[in-house]
Amino acid sequence: VIEQKIEALLSKMTLEEKIGQMNQISSYGNIEDMSGLIKKGEIGSVLNEVDPVRVNALQRVAVEESRLGIPLLMARDVIHGFKTIFPIPLGQAASFDPEVAKDAARIAAIEASSVGIRWTFAPMIDVSRDPRWGRIAESCGEDTYLSSVMGAAMVRGFQGDSLNNPTSIAACAKHFVGYGAAEGGRDYNSTFISERSLRNVYLPPFEAAAKAGAATFMTSFNDNDGVPSTGNKFILKDILRDEWGFDGLVVTDWNSAREMIAHGFAADDKEAAALAVNAGVDMEMVSYTFFKCLPEQVKAGKVKEEVVDEAVRNILRVKFRLGLFDNPYVDEKSPSVMYDESHLAAAKRAAEESAILLKNEGEVLPLKEGVRTVAIVGPMADAPHDQLGTWIFDGEKSHTQTPLSAIKAMYGDRVQVIDEPGLAYSRDKSMAGISKAVSAAQRADVVIAFVGEEAILSGEAHCLADLNLQGAQSELIAALARTGKPLVTVIMAGRQLTIGKEAEASDAVLYSFHPGTMGGPAIADLLFGKAVPSGKTPVTFLQTVGQVPLYYAHNNSGRPASSHFKPLDQVPLEASQTSEGSSSSYMDAGVQPLYPFGYGLSYTTFKYGKPQLSSKKLSSGDVLTVTFTLENTGKYEGTEVAQLYVQDKVASVTRPVKELKRFARVALKPGEKKTVTFELPVSELAFWNIDRVKTVEPGEFALWVAPDSQAGEEVSFQVVD
Ligand code: IFM
Repeated sequence: VIEQKIEALLSKMTLEEKIGQMNQISSYGNIEDMSGLIKKGEIGSVLNEVDPVRVNALQRVAVEESRLGIPLLMARDVIHGFKTIFPIPLGQAASFDPEVAKDAARIAAIEASSVGIRWTFAPMIDVSRDPRWGRIAESCGEDTYLSSVMGAAMVRGFQGDSLNNPTSIAACAKHFVGYGAAEGGRDYNSTFISERSLRNVYLPPFEAAAKAGAATFMTSFNDNDGVPSTGNKFILKDILRDEWGFDGLVVTDWNSAREMIAHGFAADDKEAAALAVNAGVDMEMVSYTFFKCLPEQVKAGKVKEEVVDEAVRNILRVKFRLGLFDNPYVDEKSPSVMYDESHLAAAKRAAEESAILLKNEGEVLPLKEGVRTVAIVGPMADAPHDQLGTWIFDGEKSHTQTPLSAIKAMYGDRVQVIDEPGLAYSRDKSMAGISKAVSAAQRADVVIAFVGEEAILSGEAHCLADLNLQGAQSELIAALARTGKPLVTVIMAGRQLTIGKEAEASDAVLYSFHPGTMGGPAIADLLFGKAVPSGKTPVTFLQTVGQVPLYYAHNNSGRPASSHFKPLDQVPLEASQTSEGSSSSYMDAGVQPLYPFGYGLSYTTFKYGKPQLSSKKLSSGDVLTVTFTLENTGKYEGTEVAQLYVQDKVASVTRPVKELKRFARVALKPGEKKTVTFELPVSELAFWNIDRVKTVEPGEFALWVAPDSQAGEEVSFQVVD
């Protein structure tokens, strides 16, 4: 039915009206100007308009005053919440809980749609292996499988059960593709990803998003191996449309059609427009090259009108699916849904599950009953804007609950709080306040230091060459450690920082990323033991920035590094060899991470039983069933993220030393033991092989069931022809 409606409409459209649908503008102050263009059918979508009265006013012009009455698609970057801000996506990924991601997206959709937004530019599912890149904050981290699962969950959350429900918003899988591999971790930079790596590492999360029903895709800013994504027919047509059967709409990133001129790929606007549309782009974000140049490019035969028609079909299809033709307006009078109690509760749960306990020496956490006085120090203890993180256009710091305010409100009757920040903000270099923080520490039973990054230090175009704590934060931690008081360091940041020294100096380290609106209450409950940490690292934590790129799913090389690394200063003078021998390593830092991918402690302990396999010999159509016992051997009720990794031992091309294939959150009471089962279809061991086919190659595989990517006992199985 929708297809018939599309054809009926298309047959009535002039070339100019078609091209108008392909034009997205960013809302600007003067509503009359915009209305004039909309009335002439020159605009298909508006981004960044969040006032429901203005949304309806613009929509009314499109529906009631333009010749064909085609509604507008109202768009906004709703990334990790609209008003109620959830942890940054990297934090959500640390939960290894697709329900957290789905709920966060659902709530964001409910809030955003209540002002008339029906399209978000999320999820961002760029596999990100370089923490210098500011946009790692917005990603699900370094792993292909984790990004696939979390990204698909976000799509389902944004889009709800049906796109035409007024609380559903169209998701946008971005950035297609390879953007996270920007050379040097510098935003917008070129990438050089082979077709094999694209298919094995970078494309699967996008395919998973398409399968989950993502209504739209966005092209990425980067050129890969010389071809800007916005002009890349191979990815936009051959893969996305022909291989995956995607029938939604593809939008450029902001100005990325015109940026093909700066790339040196297009000579001018005319050529940029033709290249983008011929490659398979349907809508242009803000740079107007389509609007200005496509009419003449079609007349000159540089772009066929059938190509324009196809783009318009894709756009109209999304508008029909969203139900915009039947229900274009937002209800301006409905009661506000922002910051609903249930939204805040979900944001708190997400922040609890996103926090990773990296160290807990002497079980300093959770804080014991005997703790009477706590010193709360550090620039992130009460930073209502910064704890929200990047991409929070609509989040309001006035609604943020900070750790300082939460600890006082929730635990003020149990402990006396001495509040002395020491530093005003994360980049503050002044040493003046540190002595006051030290004096506060001396008067307390336990010191809790909140350090990390201001929100502005991560996000788009906010890349860093140095991943150490900024300002005088390191000095602050060192000075606090010298007091000899138990020191708990909580780190709120947009990426994994190099925190080796600070972790060494601290008794406990809790890494919460930027935890969002409810970060304070979540962290308070974690510190005081009402909640138990269960997050795991979604990225490898580095010892030093010079180790970039360091990720667990690497290939082995012919000379893998030994695990007996001896630091350079322990190598005797005139030695002929370091402990690393002639291996693929660094003499000064080795290749061991500070914390491996998948790592995270709990207040309790877990014991893994040996995995039992349903069969040791399988063929490609089989499903491998892996069962093992998991026991809570400690004193607290807790949840463990059990992980299943696989290695294809010998293949027609070299394969990663380990790849995550399944994970599960398992809740256990003290002393409780459960049998956990993972079902793994052998078909999921397929990869893009030497013959450029995705296939499972017969041979031996290793398998681990483990608490992180470096642990677990290896078992093996075979895949036979
Ligand atoms: O959605 C974003 C994209 O991720 C980066 N450039 C701007 C777009 C729209 O705001």
